Amino acid sequence: MFRKKLKRGPQVILPKDAALILAYSGIAPGSKVVDAGAGSGFLATFLGTYLRPGKVYTYETDERFLQIVKDNIVACGLEDVVTLKHADVTKGIKEKDVDLVTLDLRDAKKALKHAKTALVDGGMVVTYSPTIEHLMGVLKELKKLNFSEIKPVENIVREWKTELTTRPETMGLMHTGFLTFAKKIK
Ligand SMILES: C[S@@+](CC[C@H](N)C(=O)[O-])C[C@H]1O[C@@H](n2cnc3c(N)ncnc32)[C@H](O)[C@@H]1O
Repeated sequence: MFRKKLKRGPQVILPKDAALILAYSGIAPGSKVVDAGAGSGFLATFLGTYLRPGKVYTYETDERFLQIVKDNIVACGLEDVVTLKHADVTKGIKEKDVDLVTLDLRDAKKALKHAKTALVDGGMVVTYSPTIEHLMGVLKELKKLNFSEIKPVENIVREWKTELTTRPETMGLMHTGFLTFAKKIK
């Protein structure tokens, strides 16, 4: 529940999608993750919560959001796990032998070649695409780079009401984004 108190800048990845990334990527305590853009640091701190003694390196270009991310890392007590980098992920990823790269930014497709270089064999990249147009660009680049097991997923969660009668909520969250999982095999 403490996550509700975190500061917000840009649009965040919600727990339903972050949970799927955690479950499908197979990361575990000790894993090394690169995340971009940091935005509000929601995904970085969500994943970081489960990875100690692992590491999350989260890249952000926009100076306006750096303090929000720093504050959220401290609020989560993750200073030893999550490292914020003021850097452009489309220009390169310094970390090596990375288990998972998460990309939630408009230019995600431009960072995929760097993700491939940074990943261990068998490592995974996950992209977040709010639109079909974004998703199509990502899929094209993933195929060009010979990623394997490319799997786009839409995670639909429907909440129910149970007060007087039991039925799905009339209103709800209709769409967040498409998650695309892909594996590096050499
Ligand atoms: C939608 S937000 C990410 C939200 C984040 N996933 C979260 O859960 O809080 C996208 C962020 O990517 C950043 N960004 C855009 N291009 C970037 C790049 N090339 N390298 C690093 N960060 C970038 C933007 O400044 C923005 O803060």
